[in-house]
Amino acid sequence: MCGIVGYVGSASSAPILIDGLRRLEYRGYDSAGLAVHGSRAIEVRRAVGKLRNLEAALAERPLDGHVGIGHTRWATHGRPSEVNAHPHVAGPIAVVHNGIIENHLELRRRLVAAGCTIASDTDTELVAHLVHLEVERGKDLESAVRAALGEVRGAYAIAVLSSREPDRIVVAKASSPLVVGLGDGENFCASDIPALLPYTKRMLFLEDGEMAVIEAGAVQVTTIAGKPVERAPRVIDWSPVMAEKAGYKHFMLKEIFEQPRALEDTLRGRLDRENGDIHGHEIGLSDADARAIDRVVLLACGTSHHAALAGRYFIEALAKVSTSVEIASEFRGRDAVIRPGDLVIAVSQSGETLDTLIAAKEAKAKGAKVLSIVNVIDSAIPRMSDATFYTHAGPEIGVASTKCFSTQVANLLMFSIWLGRRRDTLSPARAAELVEGLARLPQTMKDVLSGTRQLVANLARRYVDARDVLFLGRGLSFPIALEGALKLKEISYVHAEGYAAGEMKHGPIALIDNRVPVFVLLPKDSHHERSLSNLQEAKAREAIVIGIATEGDEQARTVSDDLVEVPDIAEELTPFLTVLPLQLYAYYVADFKGTDVDQPRNLAKTVTVE
Ligand code: M6R
Repeated sequence: MCGIVGYVGSASSAPILIDGLRRLEYRGYDSAGLAVHGSRAIEVRRAVGKLRNLEAALAERPLDGHVGIGHTRWATHGRPSEVNAHPHVAGPIAVVHNGIIENHLELRRRLVAAGCTIASDTDTELVAHLVHLEVERGKDLESAVRAALGEVRGAYAIAVLSSREPDRIVVAKASSPLVVGLGDGENFCASDIPALLPYTKRMLFLEDGEMAVIEAGAVQVTTIAGKPVERAPRVIDWSPVMAEKAGYKHFMLKEIFEQPRALEDTLRGRLDRENGDIHGHEIGLSDADARAIDRVVLLACGTSHHAALAGRYFIEALAKVSTSVEIASEFRGRDAVIRPGDLVIAVSQSGETLDTLIAAKEAKAKGAKVLSIVNVIDSAIPRMSDATFYTHAGPEIGVASTKCFSTQVANLLMFSIWLGRRRDTLSPARAAELVEGLARLPQTMKDVLSGTRQLVANLARRYVDARDVLFLGRGLSFPIALEGALKLKEISYVHAEGYAAGEMKHGPIALIDNRVPVFVLLPKDSHHERSLSNLQEAKAREAIVIGIATEGDEQARTVSDDLVEVPDIAEELTPFLTVLPLQLYAYYVADFKGTDVDQPRNLAKTVTVE
C-alpha cells in the first residue's frame, strides 16, 4: 500500500507534490519519488527511505514544471530500493501506482517477449510498459491507459504522465483509493483526502472501474470502458490543521488529545437528549428492520476489531441480540454461515482495509445487510454498504489508531441504544442516562487526559525497559486490555499481551514474575470484585501491578504498586476513560525508546493487501 499524488496547474508542482506526499507518508514510507514534466521531457527523482531523502535529492537536482506525479511506497513486489521506487518510466510514460497487479508474472513474460527491458522487480513498471506499447501503436494517452488496463487484473490506483501530452495526468482506479481535488485553474489527485486539504476542499471520488483525465482547467471522468460519468463534487469539511501536528511532537500524541473533540463531533446531531434516544436515520434501518434482526456479526481488523468487541458487549447487553465478532481475515478464510436476517457491521477507520472489505462483500453476497462504521467518507467499504454510520474523528495520521477507536466505540454504543429502544429491551430511563453520559463524555475525557498525562509518562519512564507487559480486563475492559497491548506492541516493539483476566489462571499466569508490569483494568463495574481477585493473583506472583481503577477505590490502591484513577462513570462508558492512560503509556514508552512513533517499522496506516 502506497500513497500517490498528482498536480496540474500553473504553480511549480514539486513542492505541492512533496507536501501531499508528506501527508500520505502514513500509507508507506520505504521510498518515494516524483516525475515532473520539464521543458522537454519528463524528469524523475527517486530515493530510498523517508521523504526527507527525496527532498535531499531534489535539493541537489531540483525539478521544475507545472505538471507532476508523486509516490510514497510500501513495498509489495520487490524490496525497497531506488530502482523499485516509483515513478516507473517506459519511453515517454511515467506511472505511479498503489495496489497489486495480480497477473504480473504473465504480463512480465509477455512484455519481455515483446522486447521490453524491465528494470525493476515491481508490478507497476509493467503498467508503464503496457501504456508505452499502446502509445507506440498511435493511441493518445487516455486511450492507451484504457487499453493497457484492459490487460491488467488486480487492485490499482494509478496516475500516468506522457511527455507527448504535457498538460494532463490520466488516473484510474480499481479497488485502491483515489480522489480528485478540484481547484481554481489547477487540479489534483491523491490517495487520500488529507494530501489535498491545504489546496482544495472540493473533491471528486472515483468509483472502481473509472478513470479521469485531469487538466488545469477541466477534469473528465469516464469508465475505463469509455462511458462518460457525471459525478458531482463533494465538499470536505476537514480543515488542513486537522491533518497537521498543531505543536505536538507526534501525530499520535495530538490524536490522543484530540479525542474529546473527535467524540464531540461524532456525537453531534445524534444524541436525542429530549427523548433519551439516538437520531438513527444514518443507520439505514426502519424500526421494523431493527426488530427483525436475528443476529449481528461484526467484522473488523486490529484496533477496529477491539472496538467491535466492545460493540458486542453493548449490543447484547442493551439490545439483547446475539452478536459475534469476527477478525475479517479469518471470516474470509472459512465458509461462515450468514443468513438473510443477519445484520453485518463492518468497522474500519480507513474504509479501505482489504480484509474487511472483502469479508463484508462476502457477507453481502450471502444475503446480509451491511452497515458500516467508517471514518473516511466515500471510501470503499461505505460504497459497498447498505448504510454507513460515519465516525467524525477527522483525519487520523498516526499509524497507531487512537481517536478513531474512541469514536468507533461511541458509534457502536449509539447504535446499541438505538436498537435497544426499538426492540424494547432498553428502558427509556436507562437510555436517557446513557445519552446524558455520552453528552458529558468529551469533558470527562479531557479531564482524564490532563489529569493522568504526567503520572503515566512517569510510569512509562520507570518501566520503559520491561521486556514483557501484560494487560488484564474483564467484560468491557477485556477489549481495552487487548487494545493497550496492541498499542504498546506496534509503536514501542515491546512484547505485550492482552488477556481476559479470568483466563490468566489457565496458562498465561506462568509468565508472571517480578520483572513483568501487569496493567489490571478494574473500574467499578459488575466485574470489579473478580478483577480485584485477579489483581491479587498477579501480585501474589510478584508482578509489578498497575491498577487502572475508579477514583476512591481503596482496595485497588492497597494492592496496586501504581494506580491510575479515572472518574466514576456508567459501566458502558468506562472504556472511553480506561483506554486513555493505556494509549498514553504506549506513546511515552515509544517516545522514550526513540522509535518512529507515527510510522512504526513494518506497518502502514491502511492495509490494502490481503
Ligand atoms: O482502517 P482500519 O480500521 O480498517 O484498520 C484496521 C487495522 O489495520 C488498524 O486498526 C491497525 O490495527 C492499527 N494500526 C492499530 O493501531
